[in-house]
Amino acid sequence: MTQFTFDAPTVIRTKRDGGALSDAAIDWVIDAYTNGRVADEQMSALLMAIFLRGMTNAEIARWTAAMVSSGERLDFTDLRRDGRPLALVDKHSTGGVGDKITIPLVPVVMACGGSVPQAAGRGLGHTGGTLDKLESIPGFTAEISKAQIRQQLCDLGAAIFAAGELAPADRKIYALRDITATTESLPLIASSVMSKKIAEGTAALVLDTKVGSGAFLKTERQARELARTMVELGAAHGLATSALLTDMSTPLGRAVGNAVEVSESLEVLAGGGPPDVVELTLALAAEMLAEAGLDGVDPAQTLADGSAMDRFRALVAAQGGDLAQSSPVAVHAETITASRGGTMENIDAMAVGLAVWRLGAGRSVPGERVQSGAGLHIHRRRGEAVAAGEAVFTLYTETPQRFEAAIAELDGAWRVGDSTPSAQPLIIDRIRE
Ligand code: URA
Repeated sequence: MTQFTFDAPTVIRTKRDGGALSDAAIDWVIDAYTNGRVADEQMSALLMAIFLRGMTNAEIARWTAAMVSSGERLDFTDLRRDGRPLALVDKHSTGGVGDKITIPLVPVVMACGGSVPQAAGRGLGHTGGTLDKLESIPGFTAEISKAQIRQQLCDLGAAIFAAGELAPADRKIYALRDITATTESLPLIASSVMSKKIAEGTAALVLDTKVGSGAFLKTERQARELARTMVELGAAHGLATSALLTDMSTPLGRAVGNAVEVSESLEVLAGGGPPDVVELTLALAAEMLAEAGLDGVDPAQTLADGSAMDRFRALVAAQGGDLAQSSPVAVHAETITASRGGTMENIDAMAVGLAVWRLGAGRSVPGERVQSGAGLHIHRRRGEAVAAGEAVFTLYTETPQRFEAAIAELDGAWRVGDSTPSAQPLIIDRIRE
């Protein structure tokens, strides 16, 4: 029998013209791109065609499965602690601004008895990445061996690692999307998130699906559809998956950037920190513990009694990090002040994310080094009183020529006025199969 072969221009043309890709075409293009037989230019064109034309559910399912098959799939079901299988559970966010939740959340779940195998990502577009944040801790490495991941899961209860050989197709496509304006696509987000999470070997997964200006998909309708699609993809691969829909119209917490977000996470682990960061950490922890069958433990207690902080210290030390050495904010700072007094009526998450990206916290070319110290502090948050002349934001960068563009992003993105903004729920809904 002759084997039907594909070529990239035909696959691109099919999607460009609104057609559906066959299973065989998807398998071929993912494999050929992973192994260098489809060029970046060709995959970029295909991603833009998918961005513009979308995909059917059947295409998304096959694209995700092909990405999982592009690399290895980890399996921790043989691991035991005190003679019992590990309660394996993970969380993934669809990307937000000031979204440092993984950093306090993982140690909270560890302290409650869960084991978190977390394949984490780098910044994407205007959103920050857990790896870029954690790598601002001197010595911390996410490039750890499989043996070390297994050891940490057993001994400590977590490992946070670069996806490496898991879903290598996603690693290449993720980097390409970041620089080709093709991030904000439901099929591409769903397949990217779920391919990594299916391959990483967790038994249960909680998704934090963002809604609002700082999310990749802005409307509640789009975010619901994304959450549903991901929950179904998880179920199809035997991964118990649930999702929270959470507000991302304004940044989470007061710190946005890399080192500044680690500092804010340490405040949360010390029992303080901004109330919204604490609320979301505890809501996601409760969901993860329920998914892992660990109900009956109180995640808030682990912040109050320091046990989550102890777990974080142990996790960072196991991965080479030194929390005793501070990772300072960048030396150059600029402050933005309010020209009038009143109430902070709004701070737009997208604009803040773009400002921080322009300060050097994210990438504009593949593999670019991000600045650990680049970031922003929000002194007055939505709903807080502001006095005329008072500092509203402080911006940090190692390269002061970046200030002008960052400040321009914030122009018109925040408003001090006389009305009190209506309270917006942080947790909008919960979605299960
Ligand atoms: N997180 C991912 O891993 N992929 C995306 O596309 C968005 C968020």
